Formats: sequence, C-alpha cells, structure tokens
Amino acid sequence: MGHSHNTRIETRLVQAGVGRDEQTGAISLPIHPSATYRHPAVGESTGYDYTRSNNPTREALEELLAEMESGARGLAFASGMAALTTVFLHFASGDHLILSEDLYGGTYRVLDQIFSRFNLTASYVDTTDLAAISLAIRPQTRAILVETPGNPLLGVADIRSIAKLCKKNDLLFIVDNTFLTPLLQQPLELGADIVVHSATKYLGGHNDLCAGVLVTADKELGEALYFLQNSTGPILPPQDCWLLVRSLKTLALRLERQCQNAQIIAQWLQQQPQVTNVYFPGLPDHPGHQLMQQQASGYGAMLSFRVDSPRRARQILERIKLISFAESLGGVESLLTLPAIQTHGDIPAEERQRLGICDALLRLSVGCEDVNDLLQDLQQALNEKSS
Ligand SMILES: Cc1ncc(COP(=O)(O)O)c(C=O)c1O
Repeated sequence: MGHSHNTRIETRLVQAGVGRDEQTGAISLPIHPSATYRHPAVGESTGYDYTRSNNPTREALEELLAEMESGARGLAFASGMAALTTVFLHFASGDHLILSEDLYGGTYRVLDQIFSRFNLTASYVDTTDLAAISLAIRPQTRAILVETPGNPLLGVADIRSIAKLCKKNDLLFIVDNTFLTPLLQQPLELGADIVVHSATKYLGGHNDLCAGVLVTADKELGEALYFLQNSTGPILPPQDCWLLVRSLKTLALRLERQCQNAQIIAQWLQQQPQVTNVYFPGLPDHPGHQLMQQQASGYGAMLSFRVDSPRRARQILERIKLISFAESLGGVESLLTLPAIQTHGDIPAEERQRLGICDALLRLSVGCEDVNDLLQDLQQALNEKSS
C-alpha cells in the first residue's frame, strides 16, 4: 500500500485498502470471491492457488490486523471461537494451560467439553493475582491465556508481569484483547506472544459480522498457526473480510464515543440506589484502575453492575426500550446481558456463584447512541413504577 508507516494507526485504518487495486485505483478494497486461480504455467503461481490457503481480500485484512496489533502475522477466522480453537490445536495431548477464571464461557466450554477429550488440560485462576498464576504452573504447563479486562467482572491482569513470568518458565503468553482492541491496548508490545480477538465485537462493531483474529509477535509462530488454519480451514470468507476492513475504518471514531459514554454511565450508575456495585476500570475505586493506566490508553466501553435483587435485574431487562437485551458486545448499538444465563451459562453454577456471576449481575456493552438517551432508558428501567 502506498501509505507510509509513519502515519498514525488511526489514519492507516481509515485508508485501509485505498489504492490496493492498482489496475483500477479503487478506493474500496476489492472482494475476490474466486475459490481457485489459474496457474500461468506448470510449476508457476500468481501467488494465489486456492482460497483456503490464500485469498487477496483476506491477505489485505490480515496485513492490516498484524499492523494494528504491532505483530508479525495476522490471521482472520470465521469466528472468535475458530481463532481460539486454532490456538488450542497448537498444543499436544498431555499439555496444560492456565486461563483467567473471569473468562468468556465459550472458551471454557471448548476446553472443558472438547479439548479435554484429547487430554489438553486447563486450570482457571484469578489472573489479576500474579502469585496465583505462579502457583498454578506445572511441569506440563505450556501457556497462559488471559482476558484483560476480564469478562464479566472487568478484573485487570498485569500484562507486563505475566509476560516476564512466561519468559522465565518458557510458556506462550496469549491475550484475548477483544474488550479493548489494539487502539487501547497493545499486548504484543507489552510482551505477549499471541493476541486473540472476537472480531464480532469492536473490530466489526455493527453487530452484523461474526469473525475472529489471531496476531503473533513473531513470524515463526505465525507460520505454525497459519499451517493449522490452512489445514483445518476455519477461514473468514472474502465478503466478510471486506466487511471487516470496511468496519475497521471507523474503529477509532466508534471507540472514542463508546468510551466516553461508558465513563458517564458508570459514574451515573454508582449514584443509583438500586445499584449495589459497578464494575468499570475507568472508576477510580476499581482495583485495576491504576494498572489500566500503565498498560492501556483507555478503559473501554464494557461495564457490569449488580442490582439489589435478581427480580430487579429481570425488571430492567424487561423494561429497557432503546438498549437491547441481547448477547454480544462492542457494536454501535448498546446491549444488556445477563451473564449468568447467557455468556457464562456453561460455567458450573457453584463456580459462577464463587466468581460473583449471580442473577443480579448485568453486563452493559455501551454503544454510540447519545448518552442522554441511554441514561434515560436506564433510569426508566430501574424505576419501580411502571411508565
Ligand atoms: C472475550 C471473548 N473472546 C472470544 C469470544 C468468542 O468469539 P465469537 O463469538 O466471535 O466466536 C467472545 C464472544 O463473546 C468473547 O467475548
């Protein structure tokens, strides 16, 4: 691409794909749906042979993703779970992984119900506690995977310190960066080896795309994961690659608005008598607040809050009008979730209880709407009297 790397990432995102098609000068990235490619002669290739192995539209997206995360290799998948599954396929029977206990339920499910059959074992620890991670390391441990901030309680793990621990113990360090995006947090720069995204969330940003991403710090690991992607086939189709590039152009704009809205809503929720706890790293009393300032350039737009009873939580879900009661997060439209029965429904009940993921805990993905309209909707939903 004709754009120099000394422009800021926000600019390069806006310009993504521009001029990539030299033949036409198209501003929008071309979509290449072709499943296969003509060979110029025996033993020769244009560089593209078969779409599972390589596709020009996916290649443009993957280069952009690597650049965004300051990595060597980007890979685009059909979902976040496809990306995570590919990471888990990198390990062998008998290996052991350490993961955040404050984790997306689907990641737990694929390990607990599928990879356990192949004897890939996992321990779940409080990854905001470095000592707890150290204690969980066994001779068979091969990697540590953290989600930071965590899901749904927004606990913050110390990326730099965990990276050092991983180096010392020869472990791969994987960070699920879905909640913050590379515009707010750069795990590879802080010492991680692999970054994972559910691009269904902020990267896609419009609740109209399911996609996943891996970015590696070094080329060799990138090649190993590419081998798995090409061998097992969970690629993102070209049309969706185009949609993701198109969506990434406005990521900086969307995030700026979403983060501002989330800060205002978190502070407002703290003042409501029906709300007993607010979990948002942008609040000064959040235990990860200082750490976020050291390793991220914003607090994101995800927040959770606990209300005074499960009945109240249900009332809010039934009464919200503008905000939708729906799973997922990161889009321009605000969504409210009940993690205990939705995103974390596959985590055993006692474990959920221990973690504090109860029926009175709600998770809000703050969108790009006018914040006053969001506050008004929450206000009427919290109120006892029917409107
Ligand atoms: C933090 C996190 N990681 C991974 C995933 C899985 O991604 P997908 O739903 O795109 O498969 C999710 C989905 O909710 C998530 O929230």
